[in-house]
Amino acid sequence: MNFNLSEEHEMIRKMVRDFAENEVGPSAAERDEEERFDMELFEKMAELGLTGIPWPEEYGGIGSDYLAYVIAVEELSRVCASIGVTLSAHTSLAGWPVYKFGTEEQKQKYLRPMAEGTKIGAYGLTEPASGSDAGAMRTTAKLDGDEYVLNGSKIFITNGGIADIYIVFAVTDQSGKRPETTAFIIEKDFPGFSVGKKEKKLGIRSSPTTEIMFENCRVPKENMLGDLGEGFKIAMQTLDGGRNGIAAQAVGIAQGALDASVEYAKEREQFGKPIAANQGIGFKLADMATATEASRLLTYQAAWLESHNQPYGKASAMAKLMAGDTAMKVTTEAVQVFGGYGYTKDYPVERFMRDAKITQIYEGTQEIQRLVISRMLTK
Ligand code: CAA
Repeated sequence: MNFNLSEEHEMIRKMVRDFAENEVGPSAAERDEEERFDMELFEKMAELGLTGIPWPEEYGGIGSDYLAYVIAVEELSRVCASIGVTLSAHTSLAGWPVYKFGTEEQKQKYLRPMAEGTKIGAYGLTEPASGSDAGAMRTTAKLDGDEYVLNGSKIFITNGGIADIYIVFAVTDQSGKRPETTAFIIEKDFPGFSVGKKEKKLGIRSSPTTEIMFENCRVPKENMLGDLGEGFKIAMQTLDGGRNGIAAQAVGIAQGALDASVEYAKEREQFGKPIAANQGIGFKLADMATATEASRLLTYQAAWLESHNQPYGKASAMAKLMAGDTAMKVTTEAVQVFGGYGYTKDYPVERFMRDAKITQIYEGTQEIQRLVISRMLTK
């Protein structure tokens, strides 16, 4: 067993950290305040090859692996969790299902531009009445000649409005005990597709989250992804890996909050000495660092398993569960270390704390992760 990162992974970490600190970090607070997505940052990520890290070169990627990808999401999220989730949803939720289930033609048409970063991807599963119970979706797809006609809506879509390509799940047969669902690749310009309300959120405010709507949206038959009726499994398998992207985002947020806290605790003096010299603060920093490191190890392990074609669904759910709770705890403690200053927007820790909360909710709540893990333990 070797816990050292390879030279390639170290290089990617350094490159992404430089980019994150120099280009992403400086505008993070302002973009959060203005709820503004910055397309130029996405284009710069594309130039660096970050939009296609795990995909082979023949599909426009850089031919690296899932470990390199989670390192990139972690480093981005260390300064800005919004740009972290933009990349995570783009790669894990939109690129992955096309890579795994797409035909050669679909890969060239959709995965390549996503990998090259000329197009942005998104994923639509959740509906107003089906969140944790994803199988209860109501959006329908009916075959009409050479096209499927979709009707319904999806909510809480990360990259909604900025994405060009949406991976969407719809019911193709309602007659059985369980609705039969199928996956589709939707282009933003398909007739009958529209983007609805943009959410106003507590955190990750510079990552747009919207509703998407289908009103007799006509989708060519060849845009079915995978087989008829395979939709739910594709959705679930996509989330198996996606959850590790969120774990990486949570590790990055926790690390960002920890780094800021260590720095502050060494500089801030009270009672004639740096507050870090008090065990009340020093022990807090020790606990924050320990939980962050444990979360990182689970996250890297899940990515390693996926990169080595070994089962990773349980590991990924465990990583997300652990890292999401860690991010929430560490960022809350970071605000405590900063005291009154931590509660203001003069420092980044309040933003980290707001951003951390969503990692306990999206891509399956912490309760759903426990369900997934316990079912895998007992099946
Ligand atoms: N891989 C492959 N197949 C799977 C699977 C997986 N991981 N999980 C389930 N399946 C299969 C099952 O084997 C079963 O197949 P059979 O019918 O052939 O036996 C079928 O799917 C149904 O499985 P379940 O009975 O387990 O389904 P369920 O209705 O009990 O639901 C659940 C399971 C785990 C609770 C699921 O509904 C779930 O994951 N819910 C949470 C949804 C979620 O995470 N949403 C996040 C939205 S995306 C998002 O948040 C993006 C963002 O903003 C960034």
